[in-house]
Amino acid sequence: MFFTMITYFPNSKVFRLDTRTTSYAFFADPNGFLLHLHYGARVSDGDALVALARREQRPSFQPQPAGVPWPFSRDTAPQEMSGVNTGDYRVPGLSIRWDDGSLAADLRYVSHEIRPGALDMGDLPGAFAGDDKDVETLDILARDAARGASFHLLYTVFPATDVIVRSVRIENTTDSPFTIERVASAQLDLRRDGLHLLQLPGAWARERHAERLPLGGGIHTMRSVRGATGHSMNNAFALLSSDATESQGDAWGFVLCYSGNFRADVDTDPFGSTRAVTGIAPDTFSWKLAPGESFQAPEVFLAYSAEGVGGMSRRFHDFMRGHLIDQKWAKVPRPALVNCWEAAYFNFNAEKILAIARDAASLGAEMIVVDDGWFGRRDNDKVSMGDWFENSAKVGDMADLVRGVHDLGIKFGLWFEPEMIGEDSEIFRAHPDWVMCIPGRDRSIGRYQYLLDFTRPEIVDAVVDTVAGLASRAGIDYLKYDMNRNHTEAFAAALPPERQGEAAHRFILGVYRFHRLLLERCPGLLVEGCSGGGGRFDAGMLRYTPQIWCSDDSDAVERTRIQGGTSIFYPCSTMGAHVYACPNHQVGRITPFETRATVALAGAFGYELDTTKLSDEDRALVPKQIADFHRYHPLTLAGDHYRLSNAWSDNAVDAWMFVAKDRSSGLLSVVRRRAVPNGNDVVLRLRGLDPAARYEVGELGVWSGDTLMGAGIPVPVPCHDAASMRLPIRRV
Ligand code: GLA
Repeated sequence: MFFTMITYFPNSKVFRLDTRTTSYAFFADPNGFLLHLHYGARVSDGDALVALARREQRPSFQPQPAGVPWPFSRDTAPQEMSGVNTGDYRVPGLSIRWDDGSLAADLRYVSHEIRPGALDMGDLPGAFAGDDKDVETLDILARDAARGASFHLLYTVFPATDVIVRSVRIENTTDSPFTIERVASAQLDLRRDGLHLLQLPGAWARERHAERLPLGGGIHTMRSVRGATGHSMNNAFALLSSDATESQGDAWGFVLCYSGNFRADVDTDPFGSTRAVTGIAPDTFSWKLAPGESFQAPEVFLAYSAEGVGGMSRRFHDFMRGHLIDQKWAKVPRPALVNCWEAAYFNFNAEKILAIARDAASLGAEMIVVDDGWFGRRDNDKVSMGDWFENSAKVGDMADLVRGVHDLGIKFGLWFEPEMIGEDSEIFRAHPDWVMCIPGRDRSIGRYQYLLDFTRPEIVDAVVDTVAGLASRAGIDYLKYDMNRNHTEAFAAALPPERQGEAAHRFILGVYRFHRLLLERCPGLLVEGCSGGGGRFDAGMLRYTPQIWCSDDSDAVERTRIQGGTSIFYPCSTMGAHVYACPNHQVGRITPFETRATVALAGAFGYELDTTKLSDEDRALVPKQIADFHRYHPLTLAGDHYRLSNAWSDNAVDAWMFVAKDRSSGLLSVVRRRAVPNGNDVVLRLRGLDPAARYEVGELGVWSGDTLMGAGIPVPVPCHDAASMRLPIRRV
C-alpha cells in the first residue's frame, strides 16, 4: 500500500479519500448531515477541512431544519446527497414516496465501514479492483430521520488511476413499503460558480460532438428517455474551470456506468455553488421497495484533473482499461476486420462472403464480419427480425460458412439484434405476447420492429439460448450486438400497476443479463456493441463489449469530431473505426484512402468495404495499413492519448497523439478537416514526451522533447481537404 486511501478523522468526523493526485472530503456534522468539503487537488489536512463547509448567513427564506440553529440551511449546505421537501430547493439526489403519500427524504449519518476492494454490483455492470490491491470502499450508512430507511452512500477509491466511484444502495429497513421516485448515483456540490460544462450532444451519424458552454444561473439538464443512452446526449459530462484547456485548468468528469434512461442536472445556485446530480432518469422511473428489499443504483465514475480536459481523459482511459473492460480483452490486440455491411448490405450469399474473405485474408485482414441479412428470410429490413437461424438459401449452413472462413486462416463474426422482434417473423408468430407494449394502445414501430419485453427474464433467457446456441454450433469468434430503435410504450406485462415505473430500468437489467449469460455460455466470444452506430456508447456496455461501433458515419472528416468527442471520456481502443468506400455512403465526401486509415487507426481498426472492388492503388495500401495497425495498436490499447486540438471546436486541422507509457515511442496523427486557402501554417506543440530525450518524428527529423513540446514543429500537411499525415515518434 503506497498511502492510506480512505482516512477517517474521528474528532471532526471528516472522511478524506485520496488518490494519487486528488482528494475528496466530506464530514458528518453534529446533526448528522453529510456535508461536502472538497473535491480537487490532493490535500493533507483532516479536521481543519470542516471550515470549508461554513456558509454565510442568509435571509429567512432559507429554512432551517428543526432544532438546528441559523445560519445552517439545507438550501445552502453543500451536501453529499440531498432529499426533497425538507428545505433544499436545488435538484435533489433522492426522493422517496412513503406509504402515507408524503414525499421527503432526510438523511442523517449513522455509521460507516471501510472495506478493501470494489463493490459487487450484482445485476449491474461495475468497476472491479483488478490488479490494484489498494482499492478501498467506504460505505456510509445514513438513515431517514423520520422513517429509519437505510441509505448507503458508497465510495470506491481507485488510487492509481485517480478515480472515485460512487453509488447509492437503499434498503427498506422499515416495516412498510415505500417508493423510490428518484435516486441519483452521485451528487457533487462544488463551491465554485462560473464553471463551464462539457457535454456530448449528437444525433444518429453525428454522435458525441463535444460542446462547451458557460453555466449561468439555473439548471442545465442532459438526459435520455429513449430506453438507452441514445444518440442525442451521452451520459458522461465534465465541469471545467472557465480557464481550463486540453492541458491545464480544473476538470471534474462524471461517467455514468449505465445504458438506460439517465438524467444529469447541473444546478448553479445564487450563492456561488454548483451542484451536479446524475443517475437513472427519474422522468421514467420509480421503484417500489418492500420491507427487507434493497435497490442498488448504478455506479458513476468521478475523476478530477488539474491538467485540464486531457488529464481527465487519460485518467478515465487508464481506469476503464484496468477496472471496467474485461481483462481478457482490455490490453489484447483486436483483429483487423472487414465488415460486409457497406460492402453488400442485404445482397450477398456464401460465395460472395467467401470471395471477400479470401481477398481480405490475402491482404492481411484477420476477420470477416457478416452483418445484417444472413437470417430468416432477411433480404431487407422489413422481415424476419428476431429469427436467429440462418437463411440457408443465402448462406448455406452457418457452420460450413464459418469453417470456410476459418480455412482461410481468419476469424468469423456475425451480426445480431437480440432485443428486437419484427411482426413478419417466426418468433412473432410463435410468441406475439413477447412484444413490449401497453395493452389497449397502439404499438409504435421503429425500423419495422418492436422491442421484446426484456423486463421478463424468461424472454431474455430464450433469446440467449438461440443466439449462444448458434454461436457455439457454428463456431463464430465475434458478435456484433446491435440495437436499432428507441423505446416506446414501455410496460412490463408481468408486473402489477404500482410497479410499472420499474419497466425501463428492468429492461436494461435484462440487456445486462443477456450479456452476462451469453459470455458465460461463449466465454471466448469478442462482442462489439452497436446501436445504429454509437447510440449506446457508454461505460455500462463497455463492461461487456470491449469495443463499440462508434458511429454509422465513417467519413474520416466527420469521424475526427465524433472520435474526438468520444475520446474525452472513453478509451480510444473501444471505438470501432473503419476505412470505408468512397464516395462515403453517409455524406458523399471523397477523401484520400490514407486519411481514412489515419482516422480509423485511432480506434479498433477495420474496413467497411468490399476489398475486391478497391482500385489497384488503394489495394496496395491495405497491407501497409494493417501493418500500421499492428504497429500502433499497442499504443491505443495501453498508451496515453493527447488531443492537440480542442475536442469541442470545429477545427480546420485536427491532431492527436498516442504516447507509450514509458515515453519511448508514439504516433502523431494530423488531419486537415477543411482546407483554408492561403491559410495558417500548421505548427504543433506535442505533448506527453520526455523533455530530456530526443525523438525522431517521422520524416521531420530528430528533435529534443522540450523543443517538440515547448516550441512545437511545423507539420507540412498538404493544403487540401481531408489531407492527413501520420508520423511515428521514436526516442533515439
Ligand atoms: C445498424 C448498424 C450498422 C449495420 C446496420 C444493419 O445501423 O449501426 O452498422 O449493422 O444496423 O442493419
